[in-house]
Parts: sequence; structure tokens; C-alpha cells
Amino acid sequence: MLPLIVGNWKMNTDLCQGDALVLKLRELLKGADSAEVVIAPPFTSIHHLYHLLADSPIKLAGQNIHWEKNGAYTGEISGEMLASVGCKYVIIGHSERRQYFGETDETVNKKVFATLRHSLKPIVCVGESLQEREGRKTLKKIKTQVTQALAGLGSAVKDLTIAYEPVWAIGTGKTASPQQAEEVHNSIRELLFELFDAESAKEVRIIYGGSVKADNIDELMAEPNIDGALVGGASLKAEDFARIVKFQPR
Ligand code: PGA
Repeated sequence: MLPLIVGNWKMNTDLCQGDALVLKLRELLKGADSAEVVIAPPFTSIHHLYHLLADSPIKLAGQNIHWEKNGAYTGEISGEMLASVGCKYVIIGHSERRQYFGETDETVNKKVFATLRHSLKPIVCVGESLQEREGRKTLKKIKTQVTQALAGLGSAVKDLTIAYEPVWAIGTGKTASPQQAEEVHNSIRELLFELFDAESAKEVRIIYGGSVKADNIDELMAEPNIDGALVGGASLKAEDFARIVKFQPR
């Protein structure tokens, strides 16, 4: 499967800054075909960037979605809206959304279904806290999050990506070692084979996130079950993100 590299811009960049970043990226990524590249800008930039990216393979993602089609949900965004401005992917259940905006495994599950209903592809984030890692509860936590997020999916799971993002590694400069990440990715892969038919389970991409940088991507991508990366801070610098996209496993 083609690796997936996703840039999560979070709440950064106004319209002009977003334009500048994308124009540079387009230039730097010309001819780079070893990964599928997705960026998740703020909602205010998506439509505009869609036009700037018209002749580029770089795809767009929403950073969130509401499970209802439309209605009185002030401040929320629907799958129909995201699809109408050219999104192909949606990030769901990021730890910042779980921590600051009360997302639960149950709402993540509803959002997964809403995403698929609009022919968008979900990128579901899971990850343990430092306390859970130190208490040796990592694999149990991940199993619960994945099982609940994907409940009731069936073969539609093949369009899904799981992003393993240890909470203690996000924005902290502390990356999980390739071995730590691989252990969790491997356990997610085994769980997918338990929960779904083999044909669908093997299609699911499992990507790593948490302080991914130009200088650690190569060793992460050398692991057999790491199928890509979800990049926060480093996706805001075109040169760094381009280098991540052009990883060379070693
Ligand atoms: P980071 O963020 O790369 O800045 O650690 C990753 C993420 O939150 O997706």
C-alpha cells in the first residue's frame, strides 16, 4: 500500500499564510510519488486551497466533522460541507479534541460513520497518556479505543486509517522510539484481523504521529507496520514537511 503522510496544521495559518505554505509545498513536492500526501488546514482555508491545488496530487482533510447532516449545531461542520469544498479525508478523535472538547470513543464512532456516509476517508487517532504508558496499560487502552471507534463497521473499515499518537509525544519533542511505535502498530494490525475480514483488515493504514520530524521519519518508516505519519508542528514548515514526504527508510 502507498504510505500516507498527513500534515495537521491545527489552529494555525490565516488565509495568506496558508497560501504561501501550499505554494511552497507544491513546488517542493513536484514529482514526489512515494507517498499519498494530505494536508488538514483550518476550515477557513480549505476551499481556497482546493483551487490552488487543482493540478496537484496533494489532497485535503478536515480536522473535525459533526455526525449530523445539518441543523442547529452552532460551531460545527458537516460531512456534506467538507465534501463540497474538496476534502477527501477527515481527522477524527485527535487527542486535543478528546482532551479539550470532550470527544469520547462513542462520538468518534458516530463521526466515523458520518465520514464514510459522505464518501470521505476517516483518519482515527488513538493513543495512551504518559501515565497509562508508565502503568503498562498502553496496549489495553489502544485496544479499547480502536474497538469502540470501529464498532459496527464491517468491510467499510478498508477505507480507514488509524493514527497511533501517544499523547505524551504530541508537540513535546519526545517521539516514541521506532520499536515502541512498531509494538503498538503491530498490536493494532492483529486486532484488525480479529475484528474484520482479512481482505479488509489488511487494507487499513496505520500511521504514526507525535513529534515526527525530518530527522526521525526515516527510522520510523523502516518499521514494517508503520504505513505513514501524521505530522503536526513540522507540517507548518514546507521544507521540513517535504523532507518527511520524501522519507528514505533506514
Ligand atoms: P506534533 O503533532 O507533530 O506537533 O507532535 C502531531 C499531531 O498532533 O497530530
